[in-house]
Amino acid sequence: MTVSDLKKRKLAGEKLTMVTCYDAWSARILEASPVDFILVGDSAAMVMHGFRDTIPATVEMLAAHVEAVRRGAPTKFIVADLPFLAFRGDLNSNMRAVQTFMQAGANAVKLESRDGNESFVRHLVESGVPVMGHIGLTPQFVNAFGGFKVQGRDSDAQKKILADAQALEEAGCFSVVLECIPQSLAAEITTSVSIPTIGIGAGVMCDGQVLVLQDLLGLSGNFKPKFVRRYLEGGELVGQALARFCADVRERKFPAESEGYQ
Ligand code: KIV
Repeated sequence: MTVSDLKKRKLAGEKLTMVTCYDAWSARILEASPVDFILVGDSAAMVMHGFRDTIPATVEMLAAHVEAVRRGAPTKFIVADLPFLAFRGDLNSNMRAVQTFMQAGANAVKLESRDGNESFVRHLVESGVPVMGHIGLTPQFVNAFGGFKVQGRDSDAQKKILADAQALEEAGCFSVVLECIPQSLAAEITTSVSIPTIGIGAGVMCDGQVLVLQDLLGLSGNFKPKFVRRYLEGGELVGQALARFCADVRERKFPAESEGYQ
């Protein structure tokens, strides 16, 4: 999968799939799957580190996840999420963050929002770094938005989000994530830009879909927003496996003789 393959897939009307991943063992499973590309998202701060939102994610934290994912998925296209404020400093510090991710094994970076980011996107693209945009509900704006809220509810907000998508394409983004916006708006954006739109809570008309791996596998406990579909009840299955292990140990059924050394 390359950046130009993605555009071809959009033109051919073939849907794209992206899944988040933060560690080597999940990456090995994704490597052997038909998933098109992997996002090392700043959601790692919540999913892997237990924070309430993505604000505590740092370049160092995510770079370690990128390295682990690259070791597990040597051939997949990996997008690394630039965390909160890591691309809002001076050009040198912004570029250091990007360099860290690309040298850790990423093929592209993602950054949230458009306002004030266009010239940096252009600079990255001119430097050989593919950039994915992310608009709509941008979780790094949780404090400004007053929570994780659906965006683009009124016509002014819808015009702004559509203009953001077009401006990010113009700046050189190869793709854009549309998070938690009305389906009709996502459909309008998808037809008005030539880059693939990847939706999460944005309806079926997007060119592709992304989900957090743990949400998709039912490993996120009671966290189940409307846009998540669980393809496995992983939490329940893991719980059952652990209960069986404990019972076997207590009943002296594990290990069997064949599972020991003579
Ligand atoms: O960090 C993340 O997981 C994301 C996806 C929700 C798109 O940005």
